[in-house]
Amino acid sequence: MSTSFEMSLDHPIKDVIAAHPPIGVILGDFQIGCVDCSVGTCLLKDIVDIHHLEPEAERDMMERIARVVEPGRTAPVPLRKRRPFATGQAGTSPPIRKLMTEHRWILRWAALIPHVVERADLATAEGHQLVLNGVEFIRSYADQFHHAKEEDILFGYFSPDMDILKAMRTDHETARGHVRAIVAAVEQRDATAAGKHLLAYADLLRDHIRKEDEILYPWMDRLLLDAQVGQMYAQFAEVDRHFGGLPQQLEQFVAKLETRWGIPPPQDAS
Ligand SMILES: [Fe+2]
Ligand SMILES: [Fe+2]
Repeated sequence: MSTSFEMSLDHPIKDVIAAHPPIGVILGDFQIGCVDCSVGTCLLKDIVDIHHLEPEAERDMMERIARVVEPGRTAPVPLRKRRPFATGQAGTSPPIRKLMTEHRWILRWAALIPHVVERADLATAEGHQLVLNGVEFIRSYADQFHHAKEEDILFGYFSPDMDILKAMRTDHETARGHVRAIVAAVEQRDATAAGKHLLAYADLLRDHIRKEDEILYPWMDRLLLDAQVGQMYAQFAEVDRHFGGLPQQLEQFVAKLETRWGIPPPQDAS
């Protein structure tokens, strides 16, 4: 790909990195992990927008990228127009905060999973039930309660064609695949397969939640209008009403297991 710096902004990131591998390193220096992304069709300019670096850091990064794309460039890199905070405040909006609070419970469960794999004996009724209770937390809390809020409500405020949303939906589907595999393994009393998919689920969700908390949610929060934030808050409240006391019961399943085994919540879930 031979192009100017300005034109490279409108190219998919995988193509830009393929043509100029040092750009992958530069993005990595700013904690932007596009090299490892499985999709890679986001445009370079959208990636810069989504990550919303501090202005000085963004300028530094863009100048380094410009020097790679156009080694002899003398023209200054124009400052990108930054979107203001649509909610009028730098803090996180209430509905997004709610999703982040749910993340903390999912992370607490993910932290318990290695202990479940180590301790649950599928040959006993107790071990069998423990794994099934964990599956119930994943299905009812992480998926139907939380992921459904994201897919059916939050993502609906943005274009479904956006690659970052496709990547998040793909993660949700991969998680559902692990759950199906866990249930099949439990039915067959196959502890090895159950353990493998439980641990893979925990790894996937930890990484997925990090991307949502640090990149996706802050970016969405900047774009949402106040009226949309209010509407979304009401929609989330309706979901909460629909689920009644079940989410709190499932949170207690996690909290009680931590107490029983003397395992404190992990730092990223506090
Ligand atoms: Fe998600
Ligand atoms: Fe999430």
